[in-house]
Amino acid sequence: MIETLNLTKKFGTKIAVNKLNLDVGKGELFGFLGPNAAGKTTTIKLLTGLLKPTEGLVKIFGYDIQKDYIKVKSRLSYIPDVPYLYEKLTAREFLRFVSEIYLIDGKDTEKKIEGFLEFFSLREYENILIEEYSHGMHQKVVIIAALIHNPDIIIVDEPMVGLDPKTTKLVKDIFKNSSKNGKTIFMSTHTLSLAEEICGRICIIDNGNLIAIGTLEELRKKSGIDGRLEEIFLKLT
Ligand SMILES: Nc1ncnc2c1ncn2[C@@H]1O[C@H](COP(=O)(O)OP(=O)(O)OP(=O)(O)O)[C@@H](O)[C@H]1O
Ligand SMILES: [Mg+2]
Repeated sequence: MIETLNLTKKFGTKIAVNKLNLDVGKGELFGFLGPNAAGKTTTIKLLTGLLKPTEGLVKIFGYDIQKDYIKVKSRLSYIPDVPYLYEKLTAREFLRFVSEIYLIDGKDTEKKIEGFLEFFSLREYENILIEEYSHGMHQKVVIIAALIHNPDIIIVDEPMVGLDPKTTKLVKDIFKNSSKNGKTIFMSTHTLSLAEEICGRICIIDNGNLIAIGTLEELRKKSGIDGRLEEIFLKLT
């Protein structure tokens, strides 16, 4: 579903992502970890087509993301680390707008939006301008906007920052259920306990280079540490 071939991104002389080869399959909940400035966000922006590789290639559903952008985008979602929303719209208006972009059948739209707003406890705020929302409420709207077209791949950069425990649990369950239903989730996070809990495979990068990839058990073997992901991560990075 997601494939990178020698994926490389340079900013001037800085190599942010260095010859990265990844292959993430259908139904995987894939954790993408690394210290600050490791190249996670850059990789994610390359995967979503927002950045052009310096060298190498990203294939999503087998399509080159740089060439078949529209084909890919209709089945993919990106939840960025810093959400940008149209602040002068209400949540309901914004979600209607996103639904129209994805050409969701108008009859279903309102019901779908209401269902999501209810699920994320946003119903009482649905007619208030987004500029009045708290950080967590912004994040919830971004997450709904990413789910509304029922994408096959969800790429998410630091999903839980600023979410309260109840919402964190909701999002965790959405990711777990989505992956059970054959959706692919590519998630970068610093919350190692989260990665440990929900990810099938985990990839660790540092300085743009792939350091380790595999299940927790495989990472334990590679690092020689039979313990928590935190210890393994600290040793490997
Ligand atoms: N637009 C840019 N121009 C120049 N350098 C950049 C740019 N974007 C990222 N970088 C550099 O690329 C490297 C990787 O940054 P990136 O944002 O991908 O890291 P990250 O792993 O997401 O870090 P964090 O955990 O802090 O979010 C850093 O050294 C950063 O300074
Ligand atoms: Mg980042």
